[in-house]
Amino acid sequence: MRILLCGGAGYIGCHTYTVLVERGHQVVIADNFANSSPQVLARLEQVTGKPVPFHPLDMRDRPGVDAFFARQTFDAVVHFAALKAVGESCERPLDYFENNISGTIYLLQAMRAAGVPRLVFSSSATVYGEPESVPVREDAPLRVTNPYGRTKLVMEELIGDVCRADPHFRAANLRYFNPVGAHASGLLGEDPSDTPSNLMPYICQVAVGRREKLRIFGGDYPTPDGTGVRDYIHVMDLARAHADALDYLVNEDRNLTVNLGTGRGISVMELVHAFAKASSREVPYEIVDRRPGDAAEVYADPALAQRLLGWRAELDVDAMCRDAWRWQSMNPYGYAAGRVEEDRVEEAVSLV
Ligand code: NAD
Ligand code: UFG
Repeated sequence: MRILLCGGAGYIGCHTYTVLVERGHQVVIADNFANSSPQVLARLEQVTGKPVPFHPLDMRDRPGVDAFFARQTFDAVVHFAALKAVGESCERPLDYFENNISGTIYLLQAMRAAGVPRLVFSSSATVYGEPESVPVREDAPLRVTNPYGRTKLVMEELIGDVCRADPHFRAANLRYFNPVGAHASGLLGEDPSDTPSNLMPYICQVAVGRREKLRIFGGDYPTPDGTGVRDYIHVMDLARAHADALDYLVNEDRNLTVNLGTGRGISVMELVHAFAKASSREVPYEIVDRRPGDAAEVYADPALAQRLLGWRAELDVDAMCRDAWRWQSMNPYGYAAGRVEEDRVEEAVSLV
């Protein structure tokens, strides 16, 4: 298939690129680098051994999106392009609605006009808010607790409406739990532009010496060790699920909404210990107050993804920590540090 990855230069998009190329697809990346770096494209060329087809595109630029689709043919789009910081979304809700929701509307309109028949959408466990019970199944009540979450829910709903209006259009909503880890090469990984708000990148930066200590938000949750429990999933397992979802849309010709998690809850403390073991580094920490809005325990029931896609997570928490550490120790300051010259980036890319 010829597949467009909107937001494909980001953390999950670039890992998915490697899997799709490995499976023999022709893959094109479109991104505006709002939260990523062109350096990723040079790394992708290194990993895959081929120039990376790339188109600079801002999803908010409706004429630009239309013009691109008018001259390109795709069998499917995977839509990663979104702003994703929960805290920032509370400060700048309109920017989130514009970027995530308007961008998705323009994308869907251009896809419809160009007759692109399939969409895989990056949704999130955030659509469950604070779940009533765990493990969380796809039919659990949806209730969001912040503007970022609201954009994900609205986007799922508007994609559903488009599917109902056009019985030939196919879409997959993939509800990711907590993606972590990195590509086994150590060349690709998560590279937050600001102070990390997520646990794993924060631990990585503490272990590599960029930050003094981790603050563990809450030690008094009703969980086995008192710290919050989440379903961390290796980004390469997640990447593989996108390829499987694309196959499902083609072969089964049905729409799809599935959780992507391991089904195993891991506490903050367990992750800290697993990381210390994998990296042979200390991860100093202190337990502080709970972070407002955090649930005690969120983990997936991934049975539906297994049944429909034949997919299940294979990499355990030790692999997640080992690969995250390989990435962080090889790139202590992320993509910026091992910077290749701009003309090298240009050589790594074939503009589409
Ligand atoms: P990321 O920020 O690393 O990647 C998103 C990419 O989209 C970036 O390269 C960014 O530059 C690009 N982008 C944003 N707005 C754009 C626009 N208007 N036009 C073009 N490109 C644009 O994030 P990620 O972690 O790779 O997440 C990918 C998707 O998965 C997002 O939709 C996110 O909401 C969703 N998701 C992420 C997580 C997570 O914890 N990482 C969890 C659940 C869902
Ligand atoms: N945590 C800490 N210290 C930190 C960061 C996090 O103790 O410095 C704890 C949190 O309290 C939580 C756990 O680590 O118990 C995981 O926190 P993350 O911020 O890594 O992940 P969340 O589950 O809170 O949020 C993630 C995504 C959101 C998404 C949500 C549900 O970041 O975008 O999953 O899918 F909405």
